[in-house]
Amino acid sequence: GNKNINAKLVLLGDVGAGKSSLVLRFVKGQFVEFQESTIGAAFFSQTLAVNDATVKFEIWDTAGQERYHSLAPMYYRGAAAAIIVYDITNQASASFERAKKWVQELQAQGSESYFKPPIGNPNMVMALAGNKADLLDARKVTAEASTLDAQVYAQENGLFFMETSAKTASNVNDIFYEIAKRLPRV
Ligand code: GTP
Ligand code: MG
Repeated sequence: GNKNINAKLVLLGDVGAGKSSLVLRFVKGQFVEFQESTIGAAFFSQTLAVNDATVKFEIWDTAGQERYHSLAPMYYRGAAAAIIVYDITNQASASFERAKKWVQELQAQGSESYFKPPIGNPNMVMALAGNKADLLDARKVTAEASTLDAQVYAQENGLFFMETSAKTASNVNDIFYEIAKRLPRV
């Protein structure tokens, strides 16, 4: 029969990468050019029907500003899924580098050691979103090279990768749908 799944999902990534914009697009179908920087975190929920299940996402949209970094574990703890967002137009790939740091942090929290049990979820479904795909021309690196880098990185680290645009809605529902499909069916 049809299963109901509740899934805590966290968005992480650099300031201005477009986390809030992706959530706003997914939950309300809207986009604003002057989205305000998130303070602390914001909560949303949205339900998505996949073939065999109805997934209720409980979404934590975190703040990218460094001063909020210490709050992040509250939001990713126990999360079934994470979307790590970077801005593909960001100079010198600083936003991409920040995304990699988040992946490392999630992986470290999810792994067990002799001294401590995992805080995070080792089976977390992780997506890497290269956002602002509508601004292709503004990219500093050639489109092909940076996309390939991200694809290779995602594959090596157990994430799946998509280029998204909160502005045009490209791949926004798709990334949540892809996560919903990958969640464990208990
Ligand atoms: P913090 O809350 O500060 O961590 O930032 P954030 O990751 O939530 O970014 P936010 O959604 O606030 O977006 C930052 C800016 O980028 C806003 O002005 C958005 O309008 C813009 N933006 C977000 N997504 C896109 C996109 O896909 N395309 C374009 N062109 N602009 C975008
Ligand atoms: Mg935000």
